[in-house]
Amino acid sequence: MREGVELIRGGLELAPRIEPLWTALFDHHLAVGAAGLATIQRSETWPRRLAHYRGLFAAHPEAEFLLAVRDGRDVGYAMRYVEREAGGEHGDGTMLLETLSVLPEARGNGIGSGLMDAVDRAARRSGITRSAVEVLGGNSRARDVYLERGYAPSTEHWLRSEPPGTGAPPGSGPRAPEAVRAGLRRAAEERGMAWTVLEGPDDTWVTASEMVDLGCAVPGSIEAADLERSVSDIIAAGFWTLFVEIPAAPAAPELRDALRGLRFRMCTERLERDD
Ligand SMILES: CC(C)(COP(=O)(O)OP(=O)(O)OC[C@H]1O[C@@H](n2cnc3c(N)ncnc32)[C@H](O)[C@@H]1OP(=O)(O)O)[C@@H](O)C(=O)NCCC(=O)NCCS
Repeated sequence: MREGVELIRGGLELAPRIEPLWTALFDHHLAVGAAGLATIQRSETWPRRLAHYRGLFAAHPEAEFLLAVRDGRDVGYAMRYVEREAGGEHGDGTMLLETLSVLPEARGNGIGSGLMDAVDRAARRSGITRSAVEVLGGNSRARDVYLERGYAPSTEHWLRSEPPGTGAPPGSGPRAPEAVRAGLRRAAEERGMAWTVLEGPDDTWVTASEMVDLGCAVPGSIEAADLERSVSDIIAAGFWTLFVEIPAAPAAPELRDALRGLRFRMCTERLERDD
C-alpha cells in the first residue's frame, strides 16, 4: 500500500464501514449507464449487497474484506473469496476479486492498485494461480485497469429483465409450476445450455426474485435458434429476468446478435488471469 494508507483486513464486522464505499460504487455504475438496464433505488442496494456478502462469507471460509484507510478516513475496499472446484485441493481454485471500490476523491492515487496487490498476494500465499473479476458493461476505465494488470476477457453475461406490465411489483417473481420448470430445464440442457435459477432480486438492476441463468459458455456448442427458442419459452412461462452467459467477444457473434434481438444487454464481463 502507498505510504500513509493503512490496510485493514476482516469479515462482516467491517460491514458498517463498507456500506458507504459500496454505495459509491453503485453511484459509479449508474454514472457509466448501468449497461443500459433499469436500476433499483439507491436505498435498496446496500441491504441486498450485504445479504450477498453474508452468503459469500458463509460459503467461502477464505472470504475477506480489505479496507483502505487514509488519514483516518475509509477511502476504498476490496472483497475477495476463493472459488473452489468440487473436490479441488489446496492451490486449485480461482481468486475472485468480488468488489473493488475507491471513493471518487481518492481515485488515481494508487489505492486501487494497493488493494489489488494485496488480493494478488493472498492468492500467492494460497498457491492459487488463477484470478477473476467481473466488470459492469460500460465501466471502461476499470476494465482498462484490469487489462493493464494482465486480465483477459473470458465470458460475458447478458441480461434481459422486463417486469410484466400489470400486477407484479418489481422484485416479485414468477411461480412456474415444478413440471413447467423441469421441462424448461430439460429443453435447455438438451440444447447444450446449463440451467440455473438464481435467487434475486439483484442489488443493481430491477429484477425478479427468481432469475434464470442460461450458460452457453462453451464456444460453438449452441445454435442461436435454440437459444432463441429457450428464451421465448422461459419468458412465456412467466420468468421475466434472464441471464445468459456466452464466451467473450469475438467468439460467438451469432449468439450476441440473437441476444441483442431479444432485447438483452451485456451486463457484466468476466475477466481472468493465469499467473
Ligand atoms: C477502478 C478503481 C478501483 C481504481 O482505483 P484507483 O485508486 O483509482 O486506481 P490507481 O490510482 O491505483 O490506478 C490504477 C491504474 O489506473 C490508471 N489511472 C489512475 N488514475 C487514472 C485516471 N484519472 N484516468 C485514467 N486512468 C487512471 C493508471 O493507469 C493506474 O495504473 P498505473 O499503476 O500504471 O499508474 C477506482 O478508480 C474506482 O473505484 N472506480 C470506480 C469504481 C469501479 O469502477 N470499481 C471497479 C468495479 S469492477
